[in-house]
Amino acid sequence: MSIRVAIVGMGNIGNVHAGCYVNDPLAEIVAVCDIIPEKADAAAAKHGCPGFYSIKDMLKSGIKIDAASVCSAGVENGGDHYVPTMELLKAGLPVLGEKPISNNLDHAREMVALAKKKRVPYAIDLNHRFTPAARLAKKWVDEGRLGQLHIINMTMWINNPNESSPWFHLRALHPHSLDVMRYYCGPAKSVQAFLMKGKGRAIWSNAQVNILYKSGVVGHLTGSYDAGGAFGLERCEVVGSEGRFVLDEACVDLTFYDRRSPMTETYHDLGGMTGFGETFASRIHRWLWQLSQGVKPSEVDGSGADGLEVQSIIEAAIKSWETRGIVDL
Ligand SMILES: NC(=O)c1ccc[n+]([C@@H]2O[C@H](COP(=O)([O-])OP(=O)(O)OC[C@H]3O[C@@H](n4cnc5c(N)ncnc54)[C@H](O)[C@@H]3O)[C@@H](O)[C@H]2O)c1
Repeated sequence: MSIRVAIVGMGNIGNVHAGCYVNDPLAEIVAVCDIIPEKADAAAAKHGCPGFYSIKDMLKSGIKIDAASVCSAGVENGGDHYVPTMELLKAGLPVLGEKPISNNLDHAREMVALAKKKRVPYAIDLNHRFTPAARLAKKWVDEGRLGQLHIINMTMWINNPNESSPWFHLRALHPHSLDVMRYYCGPAKSVQAFLMKGKGRAIWSNAQVNILYKSGVVGHLTGSYDAGGAFGLERCEVVGSEGRFVLDEACVDLTFYDRRSPMTETYHDLGGMTGFGETFASRIHRWLWQLSQGVKPSEVDGSGADGLEVQSIIEAAIKSWETRGIVDL
């Protein structure tokens, strides 16, 4: 039986989620919602389902909904998620929210706490970890193929001229990179950041962030809104006592280097995944599959709690820059 899904926020990414649900045999779209009537109506016509202008009306309609995507945006791309997410969680509906979980840490904590209290699965679209290549690299780490982990280096950059907030680059982009780093290295302990305004820019559009993980691993994040394009989107390198891997573009090229052998092992387009655009479908499929298996809220892959953790690292990086110090989490 398919999972009956509602999508809230029918902008660019809401429509990307819709496309994923349409193509996923585990899902059926039963309702769409946007506070802008034209967007709700257009999506309703496209997907042949009722469209609503408020969550209240959607919930009152009596339509049976099993789970919802929240694809609102707002200040720093996360300011609008709180209100619809709280409404849906209060109604006991599992939510897959877009990143950042929120640009406001108190709101993020409240959403995670409410989901926990209601025992409802709550996930965030931290899609970069949901690729066959990222999963294989994680298996190598868990099996000890890299030995004891020592170092992680992550680069994520795009071209984004948005000047709306001084912290927009850190808060809106780096939930992704920091989540991938946590995925391999576990919880962070201490953070130190240097920031820089790119040519002609008013916001902190470049970042070099050092992270000490509780495991002892030392990590570094390079981030920019003045890059991307021909530079690519991302690269993650994890180095251990016995080996290292380099994962390019989240899913495109994964190479294992044995510390004591010249041989390498390389996968290109593992699982047939060829680019970042495909990560939405793989992430959403994992969410649907977990729901279909009756996932425990504490076992959600890419959970609200994970979204809160990465946002806490981002706030620590901001504090580090403001105070010129190392910030413990
Ligand atoms: N996971 C990724 O890789 C990725 C990539 C890009 C963007 N995003 C995220 O996706 C989110 C959406 O981005 P977008 O570009 O589609 O934004 P958008 O502005 O195009 O769309 C947001 C929509 O939400 C609606 N909305 C706001 N509050 C609402 C509410 N309470 N109820 C119903 N509808 C509401 C708005 O009217 C708007 O139509 C952002 O959080 C962004 O950070 C994620």
